[in-house]
Amino acid sequence: MYFPINFIFLFTLSPFWVPSKALEIDSTDPIPSPWPHQFHATTIMNYTGGLRKVDLWYDWPNKRYLHINQYQLGKKLYGVEWQNGTSFYFTLDSTQECTVRHFPVGILRPNWLEGANYMGQRYKDGFLCNVWEKTDFVQYYEDIATQLPVYWQFYDGLIEHIITFEVGKVLEDSKWQAPAYCFKEIEKGKKILQDRKVQDHSLLTSFHERRFKSDK
Ligand SMILES: *[C@@H]1O[C@H](CO)[C@@H](O)[C@H](O)[C@H]1NC(C)=O
Ligand SMILES: *[C@@H]1O[C@H](CO)[C@@H](O)[C@H](O)[C@H]1NC(C)=O
Repeated sequence: MYFPINFIFLFTLSPFWVPSKALEIDSTDPIPSPWPHQFHATTIMNYTGGLRKVDLWYDWPNKRYLHINQYQLGKKLYGVEWQNGTSFYFTLDSTQECTVRHFPVGILRPNWLEGANYMGQRYKDGFLCNVWEKTDFVQYYEDIATQLPVYWQFYDGLIEHIITFEVGKVLEDSKWQAPAYCFKEIEKGKKILQDRKVQDHSLLTSFHERRFKSDK
């Protein structure tokens, strides 16, 4: 007797209720902290290339970004990204590999999370976090107690757990220099990174491509 009424009630109300709720803008929603203009973070990343320990140096005043990827029981790959769109991926061991790539966008701005949708609070890695989503791009978890990032997940499956996060830490200039073999012409014997897996799944390559898509 009551079933049909309930059914009709739910069926007719829910399609109207859900979209209006989704469009509602709640001005009390927390907003993600902008990235500090300079920081050093260490992370554990899981991506299709396998697990890696990543050292991440973000330096907005100098418009540069460095990540050092130690693959599990594998190679150590450096990536330096400059605001002019040039990125260098290289090893510093005897393999002397280097790949140079150009991107139509520079490094991530400190406010790159601006405009992300608030998804509520969730526990991640044991921390109570605020969670935001940039549609079709990233889910970003920030510790409520400290406002430090805990975790982010890109839509192509890249997952990164933040282990340490040092605000204001700056890497000395000499460490940003790509090695000389990056500047040789291919004809003169520059070694292209051999490991396609590593090359294709470098964090910044994917970061860039994702960001480029999200900006469009
Ligand atoms: C990494 O991701 C793969 C694929 O999703 C999964 O099978 C594996 O368990 C993950 N490793 C860790 C340490 O989380
Ligand atoms: C971009 O800047 C870097 C670092 O200064 C430099 O090595 C590279 O050649 C520049 N790229 C272009 C296309 O100017």
